[in-house]
Amino acid sequence: MKTVFSGIQPSGTLTLGNYLGAMKHFVDMQEDYNCYFCIVDQHAITVPQDRLQLRKNIKSLAALYLAVGIDHHKSTLFIQSEVPAHAQLGWIMQCVSYIGELERMTQFKDKSEGKEAVSSALLTYPPLMAADILLYQTDIVPVGEDQKQHLELTRDLAERFNKKHNDIFTIPEVKIPKVGARIMSLNDPYKKMSKSNPNPKSYISMLDDEATITKKIKSAVTDTEGTIRFDRETKPAVSNLLTIYSLCTGIEISELEATYHGKGYGEFKSDLAAAVVQALKPIQDRYYELVHSDELDDILDHGAEKANKVATKMVKKAERAMGLGR
Ligand code: TYM
Repeated sequence: MKTVFSGIQPSGTLTLGNYLGAMKHFVDMQEDYNCYFCIVDQHAITVPQDRLQLRKNIKSLAALYLAVGIDHHKSTLFIQSEVPAHAQLGWIMQCVSYIGELERMTQFKDKSEGKEAVSSALLTYPPLMAADILLYQTDIVPVGEDQKQHLELTRDLAERFNKKHNDIFTIPEVKIPKVGARIMSLNDPYKKMSKSNPNPKSYISMLDDEATITKKIKSAVTDTEGTIRFDRETKPAVSNLLTIYSLCTGIEISELEATYHGKGYGEFKSDLAAAVVQALKPIQDRYYELVHSDELDDILDHGAEKANKVATKMVKKAERAMGLGR
């Protein structure tokens, strides 16, 4: 059975972008693959975090993974910092990466641009991400489009290590969904929807209530043309809304275009809001049952134990290949 690994940062409540671009696909994959899903808390501290808020976000993300349908009998769900091999292999991967290639990462450029004090970990974050993946002999990494460049680097680092030291790492493949790989902001269709955007109107949080979702969708930007059709070039905002609609309901975009032919943005937006609420409501109900439960802690304990077993072996292999220790 092939292995799947993916991770999400606990750096705020997840958005509809995280769900439609990543999480939703994890659920389908657990039927056919040996899956590891990680709460990458060590990635989250590359930017300053409030201690208590981070704790809360970690638990919240764990509950969301389960609420969307991750089944701990089928998949391993765990917290990165509870498996020390991630940081250990992360260091080794830093030693095989070059500053130049890390500086070329667009996410580093975006996050550091114009800032006075940038942590060095913001630069060395991709080697840690590579370590996350390589520890589990991962075959496939399902992610949204913004992670593609990091995955290319992961492959380069694994190949470099295998050639230079010993052929121990599986070279992972990236899997990006055909639709929804880049859900855009509601108030700027040229920016991706992101949980770190300071304007909450730009995103829908997976935990937003019905009134908030409706309000945000009603105020989403469109264009002056007034027709509902998919065209990324000339109608990026409406195309983004159509993508969200299609993914939340399973209705093809072409069918939606036909349904809303001759209709206005008002009706389209109120139906879209209802569709988003309907997609998120069962997830939210399950989430509130789980988030303060003992069951959640048990699942995370068990996940860390399983992940530690596999990851410890792999980091030992990597250390031996490099000549570390006795
Ligand atoms: P993060 O936490 O920013 O995002 C988690 C996942 O959500 C996807 N995503 C989106 N997809 C579509 N539209 C959007 N607007 C959108 N925003 C986010 C991301 O592509 C991602 O799949 N570096 C990673 C976390 C990570 C990781 C890993 C992922 C650490 N180690 C190993 C895979 C494998 C990150 O910051 O994702």
